[in-house]
Formats: sequence, C-alpha cells, structure tokens
Amino acid sequence: MINAQTQLYGVIGNPVRHSLSPIIHNGAFRRMGLNAVYLAFEVENLAEAISGIRGLGVRGVSVTIPFKTQVIPFLDEVEEVAGKIKAVNTITNEGGRLTGQNTDWRGALEALEEKIDLKDKRVLLLGSGGASRAIAFGLKGKGCQVFICNRSLHKARALAEELGFVSLPLSCIDGLDTQVVINATSVGMHPNDTQSPLQKEFLKKGMTVMDIVYHPLRTKLLQEAEEQGCQTIAGLEMLARQGAAQLQIWTGRRPDLEEIKEDLRRALG
Ligand code: ATR
Repeated sequence: MINAQTQLYGVIGNPVRHSLSPIIHNGAFRRMGLNAVYLAFEVENLAEAISGIRGLGVRGVSVTIPFKTQVIPFLDEVEEVAGKIKAVNTITNEGGRLTGQNTDWRGALEALEEKIDLKDKRVLLLGSGGASRAIAFGLKGKGCQVFICNRSLHKARALAEELGFVSLPLSCIDGLDTQVVINATSVGMHPNDTQSPLQKEFLKKGMTVMDIVYHPLRTKLLQEAEEQGCQTIAGLEMLARQGAAQLQIWTGRRPDLEEIKEDLRRALG
C-alpha cells in the first residue's frame, strides 16, 4: 500500500511514455515486499529535474535518452566506468548526494556471459551510439578483440580508436572471422520488423548473436541467426539485467530475473 513511508523512484527521459522501466521496477518492488513506487517523468529541463530529485528525496532514478551524458555534470560522484563510457543510466540519492553508475554494460555482459566465455573472443559490434559505447567498454574489460561497424563510419572509427579496436564498413565484413555478433543499432526495431542489420549469409553455425532490440521480442536478425544454427540472445535479456542491476544498487538485493522477464514479455505481448 502507498503510504507516508513509500519511497519514490523513477526514470527521467524524453520521450519516456514508452519506457518499460516502470514495469521492471514496480513488479520487482512488489515481489521484494518493498514499500516503493517507480514512475516515469518526461523531463524538459534537466537542471530542474535534478533539483527535484534532491529536493523531494527521490531515492533512485534511471536515466534514458537524451540525458545519459548530459546528466553527468549534475552529479556529486560518477563511478569510473560510467565516466569513461560518458553515460550514466542509474542515479542513487543518499541524503541529497547523487552518485551515477552505468548498468547497461553490465546487463549486456551478464547476458553474454551466461552463454559464452568472452575472454579473447572476436566480436563484431554493430552501432556506435550510446548502447554500443557501453557494450564496447564492457568487451574491452574482457579482453575481446572487437570489430565495429556503423552507418556513420566516422563514429565507428572514433569509438574504435578510443578503445584500441578496429572499425570497418559493413560492406567489408565478408569473411571476417568472428565468434560473437552484437546488434547495438536500432535496425529491426518495431515498426521496421522486416529489417536486419546483417546479411543472413554472414551468420554461421556456432556463432553467438545478441540483439539489443527487444521490440519485437524475436527480431529478424535473431530469427535468421537461429535458422543458421547460431546461439541467440534476445534484447529482453540485457533489458532485464540492466534493470536488475539497478535494483541491486538501490536495495542491496538481487531481484528474481525470471519474474522480471515474464513481466516484460507480458508487456511486450
Ligand atoms: P542508443 O543509445 O540506443 O545506442 P543512439 O545513440 O541513437 O541510440 O544510436 C543508435 C545507433 O543505431 C547508431 O549506431 C546509429 O547509426 P548512426 O551513428 O549512423 O546514426 C544506428 N542506426 C539507427 N538507425 C539506423 C539505420 N536505419 N541503419 C543503420 N544504422 C542505424
């Protein structure tokens, strides 16, 4: 029951009405028996929103597009890896002191490591936006050899140079010997369900293919990967895990991942 003890959490972003974070967090709070509620805040003015978080004692806040980088100067402390990624997706408020962390890379790495040992693997990473950047830093920490492709080549080149990886145009990947493929672009996302970022023929038996797109649940890339005999990891896996990692930061407890995934599947139909 919501009462005078209820703690407030939320997500700031714009647009934010499509966010699945309230589904993840409210379901988990209920099952964990916590007196807490999580709301979506469509923010116009970030400085005012941050003042509101401090002023009202909002306990924890998820940060989404377009604020993940912009929010950094407003925080009192940012964990090292989030600072390097230059993106914070998790704010924790302790008595007005705001700390920032990034759970996107953790979510992606946990989802991958459940299926494969990443050490020394050769990885094709598609995309050079915020999500791709977080995943690239995570892969760097595991000693992976990463090849980055992106529609805007200059962004792939900049990210690859920053991390000591290789960038190349998508038209040049034929014959590239990789064990892992990660789509961190929005290609294939609803309503463009019939698109895939890759030619099916590139996908070979034994590869592990992860898509960060979670709507639809099974993207064209994942369907084709399965048809080619690849091991697949759906976008839902990363989404659920980045949320679970936030809950752990805020409450000190690990929520039930399967229940979170079930809530998400239901929400996504
Ligand atoms: P996110 O935070 O989810 O990573 P983003 O920072 O906007 O979002 O990045 C989106 C990624 O998807 C980028 O790599 C983008 O390529 P550009 O850097 O060239 O914009 C990629 N992307 C989006 N739409 C695409 C499309 N139709 N074809 C190819 N790549 C696309």
